Amino acid sequence: MTLTICIAFSLLSLAKSDHHNCSILYSTADCTSRGLISVPKDLPIDIISLDLNHNEIGTLPNNTFERYSMLLTIILDNNRLSVIKTGAFFGIKRLLNLSMERNTIHLTELNTNEIFRPLKSLELLNIRQNLEIMEVSWTYPYLGNLPNLIYLYIDLTNNPNFTLSNVKKLTKLKIIRFEHCYLTALKNDTFEDFPDSVEQIYFGNINFLIPLISLVESDVLKPFPNLQVLSLTKIICSLSDALKILYPFQNKSMQAVVYKKIGIPPGNAVVLTELIVSYLKKVCVKTLVLAENDIVGLAANILASFNYAHCFNTIVLTGNRFSLVSRSNYGLFFAFVKQLTNLKILDISFNPVKYNKVRYLKIPYVCGTNHFESSVEKKLIHEFQTTKHVSEKSEDDYQCLESKLKSNIQDRPTITFAIPSKLHTLRMSYYLSVEGYNNQKLIIKNVSNLRYLDFSYFQMDVFSGITFDGRVNLEHLDVSGIDSKLLLEKPFFNSLTSVSTLIMRDANLGQIFRDSDLVSNIVSTVNKFDISGNNIWYMNEFTFSNSKNLKHLILANNILLEIPLAVTHIDTLEILDLRNNELQSINETMRSWMESQNQRKKHKFKLYLANNMFLCNCNSMEFINWIFRSNLNFDTHFRNYTCQLSNGTITDTNRVYNEFHQLFVHCSNGVWLNVGLWSLFTFITITVIVAITFNFRWRILLWIYKKSRKKLYHNFQYDIFISYADDSIYWITKELIPTIEKFWNLKMCIEERDIYAGMSVADELSNAIENSRHFLIIISKEYRKKTWGKFEIERAKVEKFTNKLQKIIIIERHARKEDFPLEELAKFQNDITIIEWCDNDNTNAWHKLGLTLSTDY
Ligand SMILES: *[C@@H]1O[C@H](CO)[C@@H](O)[C@H](O)[C@H]1NC(C)=O
Ligand SMILES: *[C@@H]1O[C@H](CO)[C@@H](O)[C@H](O)[C@H]1NC(C)=O
Ligand SMILES: *[C@@H]1O[C@H](CO)[C@@H](O)[C@H](O)[C@H]1NC(C)=O
Ligand SMILES: *[C@@H]1O[C@H](CO)[C@@H](O)[C@H](O)[C@H]1NC(C)=O
Ligand SMILES: *[C@@H]1O[C@H](CO)[C@@H](O)[C@H](O)[C@H]1NC(C)=O
Ligand SMILES: *[C@@H]1O[C@H](CO)[C@@H](O)[C@H](O)[C@H]1NC(C)=O
Ligand SMILES: *[C@@H]1O[C@H](CO)[C@@H](O)[C@H](O)[C@H]1NC(C)=O
Ligand SMILES: *[C@@H]1O[C@H](CO)[C@@H](O)[C@H](O)[C@H]1NC(C)=O
Ligand SMILES: *[C@@H]1O[C@H](CO)[C@@H](O)[C@H](O)[C@H]1NC(C)=O
Ligand SMILES: *[C@@H]1O[C@H](CO)[C@@H](O)[C@H](O)[C@H]1NC(C)=O
Repeated sequence: MTLTICIAFSLLSLAKSDHHNCSILYSTADCTSRGLISVPKDLPIDIISLDLNHNEIGTLPNNTFERYSMLLTIILDNNRLSVIKTGAFFGIKRLLNLSMERNTIHLTELNTNEIFRPLKSLELLNIRQNLEIMEVSWTYPYLGNLPNLIYLYIDLTNNPNFTLSNVKKLTKLKIIRFEHCYLTALKNDTFEDFPDSVEQIYFGNINFLIPLISLVESDVLKPFPNLQVLSLTKIICSLSDALKILYPFQNKSMQAVVYKKIGIPPGNAVVLTELIVSYLKKVCVKTLVLAENDIVGLAANILASFNYAHCFNTIVLTGNRFSLVSRSNYGLFFAFVKQLTNLKILDISFNPVKYNKVRYLKIPYVCGTNHFESSVEKKLIHEFQTTKHVSEKSEDDYQCLESKLKSNIQDRPTITFAIPSKLHTLRMSYYLSVEGYNNQKLIIKNVSNLRYLDFSYFQMDVFSGITFDGRVNLEHLDVSGIDSKLLLEKPFFNSLTSVSTLIMRDANLGQIFRDSDLVSNIVSTVNKFDISGNNIWYMNEFTFSNSKNLKHLILANNILLEIPLAVTHIDTLEILDLRNNELQSINETMRSWMESQNQRKKHKFKLYLANNMFLCNCNSMEFINWIFRSNLNFDTHFRNYTCQLSNGTITDTNRVYNEFHQLFVHCSNGVWLNVGLWSLFTFITITVIVAITFNFRWRILLWIYKKSRKKLYHNFQYDIFISYADDSIYWITKELIPTIEKFWNLKMCIEERDIYAGMSVADELSNAIENSRHFLIIISKEYRKKTWGKFEIERAKVEKFTNKLQKIIIIERHARKEDFPLEELAKFQNDITIIEWCDNDNTNAWHKLGLTLSTDY
């Protein structure tokens, strides 16, 4: 009887809609994304944390949580909350964290006086991103019943009134995050009701609709005399106004002042003058971030008196348009840096071109504000504005190119760059344009404290060599995106005797590994070596014979057909990353080496193999078997990798392993396979011989390129982007398109045809150039008059510097000397192929074009 009732009862409770389906681990209930419309009533009563993120809960009735009196944390983010009854939080006296972000709670309509009364212990209240509209003036409701509150995350309306909220009572309040900051005015009395205990304030926006802050009064932050961290992200306000609010902190010290994406769009150029920094320079700031603020330069008087220059510990100028092209900027900047005697971290990456996506160093207060980034960040317009001094030059001075070409050949003196002697982190990644400094030797002095150096995608080839003066104790070096030939042939690596992390992605190392074992000397101290994206398909067997410390080797994104034998010389290896290669199988020799390595490393050896296209045929039976039996640690779940059956069908190793016997039943005779391979080999050999003998070898190369491009290169949308003026259109449609697209079968991007009107032209052009493999310019009489010509060339330069664009080709057709866009092309002479086009006799020209498009270097 009892049993029956029991069973009936449990069946009943199973059928109930709010029966929980949460996972419970260590008194923590995870009820995320369960489609719940109310808080489950049948969780264990001793849970301390309840996560209800991403559900459909709209109402919190009286006594919702009463059962769970031990609760410390409740997360109700991303629900549909709008109604909270006055007794909703009864019985949870211990609660510390209450998070209700991204709901539709109208704070003013709640009786907060009663609702929050039970939460005497609450330390964190998160009700940000509940405000949908911006044009509201709110009187904020009573919050004085939360005496232990430390963190308050809340939206800010355009004209907030805190008179009734009694926030002054929150005497432990330390950290405020105002997201959805819709303020239109920063007035002296805006925050007058807040307690003076506040130490950190973050203003930010995650929306695209942000009002302009039109009024800024300098005492707006006066109520916060103990402020240590001030952070503003994505605020529409002039930088000069935004810096004005530092007024109350003169002669005080602060941990961090972080200004990211401050300005009035469309981003105009900001020159930091003494006036703009007049308060900033009187504050002792440890971490200063002025990132993505369109700063283009420093005014001459800037240095006059940074009263607290010695306070700076970290300076981040990432993502501005700060160019060191102009002599004055250059001089001033280094003079300024010299004063910063205690500077430890300096970051001037992503300059001076506007970058789409800026990445920051992981340092306190800098990355902490990243949650303000919208998840669906609209693609910003690629914007390239040539720096002032370039556009000042007269447009029609075509002699410039020649004189510039000549000046490139001249050796200029060495430049020496002494970094502040305490600096330990220097990042100059994605830094373009050191124009005017060509073939100089760069000497970096005072490096003994430098530990972290990131030069990745720096336009390094303007220097004929970089050396360090004095003892170098670098631990982390990133030289990705720089042609490794530039560094390896120069004394650059000689002084590096302590580097433990060496990153050389996209560094054109493929050639090096084929030609020599230059690398073996530099990796002797390296612990983590990243050489992904280098088109490596072969490696000298003794490349790593000097490595005594190498633990983590990253060979991802190359074109390796097999695991290089060289890795077997690395006794210390623990992680081998071979993702995104062309591996087809792993043979017995390599398998047994890895197994024994795994033994030696106490079962810690990791092998990453995702995104290779393995062969699942008779020859690789053993290999497939091994994957599942091996003791190694693999990267993908269930050791599931893509593989191709001998009939061409693409499947996965998991399936193959499960159907092993059906699939491999016919595997006995390999003879025919060998015959097939042999005839294939013969065919290729003959083809290559014929190709070389034949004058039209490039056609064959072109054919091979077409066949292999998908594997070898990024998946470009176009093969060629073509930049031309109107007077070439007839020729392009009648001759160029038919030959290139129909006959050679390459895809071109033609503005008239492939660029759609409607979106921003700059945006569209940028995208097209970014997605093209080569860049072809047709110089004609009208070319210099073309509106977007200059822009296109500048974009192409950017792509070239980042090593994505492969060739810049110029066809000179019916052009005079003065039709050349000399200035834009200056400094590019090494990367350009010029083809003179003569309509009558163009066989050679076609030949040259075909050859250029089909070869790699
Ligand atoms: C419980 O949740 C899982 C997902 O976590 C879902 O697949 C399953 O259908 C749910 N069961 C019930 C009874 O809601
Ligand atoms: C909820 O609790 C409040 C305060 O105790 C009470 O005034 C109100 O009547 C209750 N509401 C309901 C529906 O029980
Ligand atoms: C409460 O939130 C704070 C701040 O986010 C966090 O550091 C802390 O770990 C949270 N406490 C609990 C018990 O979840
Ligand atoms: C703020 O609200 C209070 C109460 O509604 C009102 O008395 C006061 O005038 C308001 N302050 C401002 C500046 O509007
Ligand atoms: C705001 O404070 C500043 C600095 O004390 C003062 O100069 C200014 O006049 C004040 N503005 C108003 C409107 O009171
Ligand atoms: C800051 O200190 C300097 C020198 O001690 C003094 O001259 C100046 O008046 C002070 N400024 C403020 C705003 O207190
Ligand atoms: C570089 O080091 C030398 C000697 O240690 C020192 O005199 C000089 O001031 C340093 N330069 C800078 C910019 O820190
Ligand atoms: C096994 O593969 C390695 C490269 O991964 C190769 O060097 C070696 O010669 C192969 N061994 C045999 C027996 O085929
Ligand atoms: C293996 O991966 C394939 C596709 O990548 C997937 O369809 C299959 O379900 C996976 N198998 C297992 C057991 O995870
Ligand atoms: C290839 O072989 C597999 C297994 O024998 C079979 O399931 C698949 O349909 C075949 N594919 C083609 C295109 O014949």
